[in-house]
Amino acid sequence: MSKVFVTHSLPGERLQVLAQRCELSVWEQPGLLSPSGLRQHLTGCEGLVCLLTDRVDRALLEDMPQLRFVSSMSVGVDHLDIAALTERGIPVGHTPGVLVDTTADTAFALLLAAARRVAEADRFVRHGQWRDDKAWSPDFFVGKDVSGATLGIIGLGAIGQAVARRAAGFGMRVLAWNRSAIQVPGVEQVSLEELLPRSDFVSVNVALSNDTRMLLDADRIATMKPGAVLVNTARGGIVDEQALADALDNGLIYAAGIDVFEREPLAMDNPLLRHPRVVLAPHIGSATIDTRRRMADMAVDNALAALAGEPMPHCANPAVYS
Ligand code: DGY
Repeated sequence: MSKVFVTHSLPGERLQVLAQRCELSVWEQPGLLSPSGLRQHLTGCEGLVCLLTDRVDRALLEDMPQLRFVSSMSVGVDHLDIAALTERGIPVGHTPGVLVDTTADTAFALLLAAARRVAEADRFVRHGQWRDDKAWSPDFFVGKDVSGATLGIIGLGAIGQAVARRAAGFGMRVLAWNRSAIQVPGVEQVSLEELLPRSDFVSVNVALSNDTRMLLDADRIATMKPGAVLVNTARGGIVDEQALADALDNGLIYAAGIDVFEREPLAMDNPLLRHPRVVLAPHIGSATIDTRRRMADMAVDNALAALAGEPMPHCANPAVYS
């Protein structure tokens, strides 16, 4: 029987089906599995079911000659060396589609929270600062209007389009930049150079790749509309965090809502932590009970197909099948 290693216990019951088709071992400890732990447990396995926190690089692959498939419980696959896996003919499963609305909801939650200073106001009340000497007044916790503002979406894939649908409900004008042209009703496609200075709100919804790494660097951030709000629910590494913190410091950027970071978990010296108008979340874009269960089911279904010698239903490198 093939040996398969799963790097975390998964929601739902589907793993039990996988356990009947292979010799399954699951890392059940709380917290992250270390790179050395992954190496140790993967040795001798033909299959890996992993999370976005598990890195599979060329060096690891070279020591795993028996590996035949990888299935990640994530839509993003930037934690996996896709080029090296494809060279080896190893199919990579992922979970597109099921987390689209949940992630778009998170983007909008962060956008609204940042614009209307919700997290800052919550801290204010909790810390007993809401007193007679600091009470309701005309300029008390004033923020920015979302309704009627212009939203610029970077990356008009499924999640970007779902963000655009939500924006339409708020009466926003929607601009988008996408590498290839896609016609989406109600969305004006523009260049990145045009989107940044025109947008009151910018939502990052593009995948992390060599082309998008540091896409929003200091130079591009400097061209954003003064007083803009930036939301990132895609991946850390697309936005230069230091440049964003500097732009918040100098008042160019009004606020930000950030769910994803270059280094996760976030280091406590990250410059974004010092800004009261940055709403921070610990990579929870897809974190609802139903969506996480669907993602787990898809990850297991991809693994089941690979074990049966069939193409994975959701493969991030379909070239391995041609
Ligand atoms: C993914 O699946 O890539 C998401 O980042 C999870 O929230």
